[in-house]
Amino acid sequence: MLMQAELGRPFSAHVIVLGNEKGGSGKSTTAMHVAVALLQAGQRVATIDLDSRQKSFSHYIENRREWAARTGIKLEIPVHYCVARGSGMRLDEIEAQEFAAFAQAVSSVEQSHDFVVIDTPGNDSYMMRLAHSMADTLITPLNDSFVDFDVLGTIDPISFEVAGVSHYAEMVREARRQRRLVDGGLTDWVVVRNRLSTLGSRNRRLVGEGVDALAKQLGFRTVDGFAERVVYREFFPRGLTALDDLNEDTLGLRPNSSHVTARDEVKVLIDALRLPIDERGKRRAAARAEWIAATGKPLDTYDLLAD
Ligand SMILES: Nc1ncnc2c1ncn2[C@@H]1O[C@H](COP(=O)(O)OP(=O)(O)OP(=O)(O)O)[C@@H](O)[C@H]1O
Ligand SMILES: [Mg+2]
Repeated sequence: MLMQAELGRPFSAHVIVLGNEKGGSGKSTTAMHVAVALLQAGQRVATIDLDSRQKSFSHYIENRREWAARTGIKLEIPVHYCVARGSGMRLDEIEAQEFAAFAQAVSSVEQSHDFVVIDTPGNDSYMMRLAHSMADTLITPLNDSFVDFDVLGTIDPISFEVAGVSHYAEMVREARRQRRLVDGGLTDWVVVRNRLSTLGSRNRRLVGEGVDALAKQLGFRTVDGFAERVVYREFFPRGLTALDDLNEDTLGLRPNSSHVTARDEVKVLIDALRLPIDERGKRRAAARAEWIAATGKPLDTYDLLAD
């Protein structure tokens, strides 16, 4: 099997991978919010979609680009790649193709970007495992339900204590081990609880206790992510996020209190991820925002205000 070492670690970019074998847990939605947050912090961000069947992340970014072009509103857009699945009769051939395509996408952005955000499909595949073994930060969004929890571990039906570790968790353990072997790097694994009910519920508490117990066994951190909000579902057609300047022009309707709360919870999540955000980039972003506010015109090149 091809080794991750052949990809030429260490990268200069910090690699963030969104992963969970369970479909619909919020990987693509979170990937988009993380990418936009980093761009807004003046970081150079590239994005990679490994889910070439659904292409949700790619479509989200495409919608954003089209919406910006159509309205003339300045929206930050990452440099984006969608990596196709391999095809053929033999598994080793398919894997070799996937490895080459993935390696090409990574190597074309790793030196020129501060962050690479990789969205993965909700099922086990060679490319998905490859991405996991490369993560500096692995974000696993988890819906607030025991059905979703099952992807990480099993729970005793009487005591609600952790009874076992599931396939995906084993895969992550192996990917982290590989990573340590190859370059001594550590993966910060963060399980982000998504679609939390805004009302305190027994289920939320019980799932929380299970996740905390598993965190100790498997070595991940848990943070609260987004609450269940309709706004997260409405953003997609225009490629917007809760972090964008939402007004009637961008959103098509007056933003409401849910948008404000969503924006705050995204910011809390980004802080909790403890990503190595470069201060120079932050200053650049602040200078750029000031400049835009003063002239009312967007800058068209990234580096005009570079130090
Ligand atoms: N916090 C939230 N509140 C409400 N809806 C949400 C929230 N997060 C995600 N969703 C919705 O849930 C669905 C699944 O989200 P998303 O596509 O991000 O998950 P995914 O893990 O990428 O799924 P897949 O495994 O299919 O790629 C989408 O319809 C999305 O709009
Ligand atoms: Mg997805």
